[in-house]
Amino acid sequence: MAMASSYSAISIAFGILLSISIAFADDISHHGSAPKSPSCDNILRLVKVKMWADGAEGDELGGLTAKFGGHLPTAAKNSQKLPAVFANPLNCCSSSSSKLSGSIALSTRGDCDFMTKAEAGQSGGAAVLLVINDGEDLLEMSCREKNVANITIPVVMITKSGGEAINKSMTTGKKEIGVSLLSHW
Ligand SMILES: *[C@@H]1O[C@H](CO)[C@@H](O)[C@H](O)[C@H]1NC(C)=O
Ligand SMILES: *[C@@H]1O[C@H](CO)[C@@H](O)[C@H](O)[C@H]1NC(C)=O
Repeated sequence: MAMASSYSAISIAFGILLSISIAFADDISHHGSAPKSPSCDNILRLVKVKMWADGAEGDELGGLTAKFGGHLPTAAKNSQKLPAVFANPLNCCSSSSSKLSGSIALSTRGDCDFMTKAEAGQSGGAAVLLVINDGEDLLEMSCREKNVANITIPVVMITKSGGEAINKSMTTGKKEIGVSLLSHW
């Protein structure tokens, strides 16, 4: 497990990711069964995530926004570098015992629906929730059947290898590792 006190910085920059495959997950309702509520109408947007460590620019990752939740800035000047923190429990299905306040919280996929993770992250004060997939594609994160959550933070999926890259940067002794997210179109 990653140390809850460590962090990682990522910044999302403009750009189009053409090599990312987008798929549907069996833990997500879609094909019209998802409620057509205003809070579940987000257009899915690819984002680029750039990692930063000790002020140095690191690798870029791809991400995909959710059908629900807040929007990321679209202008690079509005993107913020924030510390990345792994939720504890890592699945973010309940309140995190690691401090998420003002962070980009990281969660694994599974064990509960995406909105539940977002609620737990948001109530912990996270600015953004990144959900790490268990594979190399990016999934549509839709709403649960009874959509009653009021999610205002952006929720973004990244790939398994993306999560590993962030974890690696967080566990290699860098002091300042942060993340900032930008939706580029
Ligand atoms: C992060 O990497 C460490 C060391 O390899 C590993 O023990 C831990 O499980 C990883 N954490 C996550 C969230 O993947
Ligand atoms: C949703 O949450 C935001 C921020 O906590 C709040 O300002 C807003 O009034 C809430 N909306 C609803 C419909 O509960």
